[in-house]
Amino acid sequence: MIKLLDAPTSTGEVSVTMRRSDGAVGYLKGEVLQTMVDARGRNLAAHVDAAVDVLLQEAASRILVLGFGGGAASTLLHQAGASVVSVDRDPCAKPLAELFFRAPPCLEVVVSDAAAYVARAMAASFDGMFIDFQESSATPEAYLSASFWRAVSRVLKPGCMMVVNLTDWLYEGRDWADFRRALGQGGFDAVALSHEYGDGNRILVSSTLSQSVSELVS
Ligand SMILES: C[S@@+](CC[C@H](N)C(=O)[O-])C[C@H]1O[C@@H](n2cnc3c(N)ncnc32)[C@H](O)[C@@H]1O
Repeated sequence: MIKLLDAPTSTGEVSVTMRRSDGAVGYLKGEVLQTMVDARGRNLAAHVDAAVDVLLQEAASRILVLGFGGGAASTLLHQAGASVVSVDRDPCAKPLAELFFRAPPCLEVVVSDAAAYVARAMAASFDGMFIDFQESSATPEAYLSASFWRAVSRVLKPGCMMVVNLTDWLYEGRDWADFRRALGQGGFDAVALSHEYGDGNRILVSSTLSQSVSELVS
């Protein structure tokens, strides 16, 4: 690996590396790979492709991505014609994604904590969401909080999908039961879980109640 750049942030070091053998480029936070693209800038993470496919199949057209990193998911969704808002707490993510990962400069990337963003976002303002802000072995606090998932559900339009990247650390790890409980308390009871994509990641897909069902239960 050739290190192309180091960028210190308040929550750890971000670096960009290139693989000698094929020119693939990685976005790392504290040594953990967050995004990887090939020498032409194409996404190499199969779980990201899968998450994008689910959202596009659902015809989501205004999508919130929590955890921008090198911007692979946001770029793919944008290229498919969706209007995308992305959130990342690291201010270096957008400039690095443009420089090294071919993210289009027109992408809207808000520098914020993901939970703080959804807590103040307008109700029913997105029709799809990709939640991908676990950057290390530590489960994000928000993933274990019912109020975070309630806020996610409020921000999504009724009946719309959200996809969560389940890392190897989270899936059946020490926080798995608490994560599932918080998700349920937040209103996401029916979930579909994918197989493992070869990089340790799975995707979890769930939706908010449809308009008619939410009217029935309210
Ligand atoms: C796995 S990467 C996202 C990869 C990205 N979805 C992609 O498709 O390339 C996780 C990102 O979440 C960000 N992050 C971690 N904790 C966060 C938080 N509490 N709020 C917002 N962003 C956060 C990190 O800075 C990192 O860039």
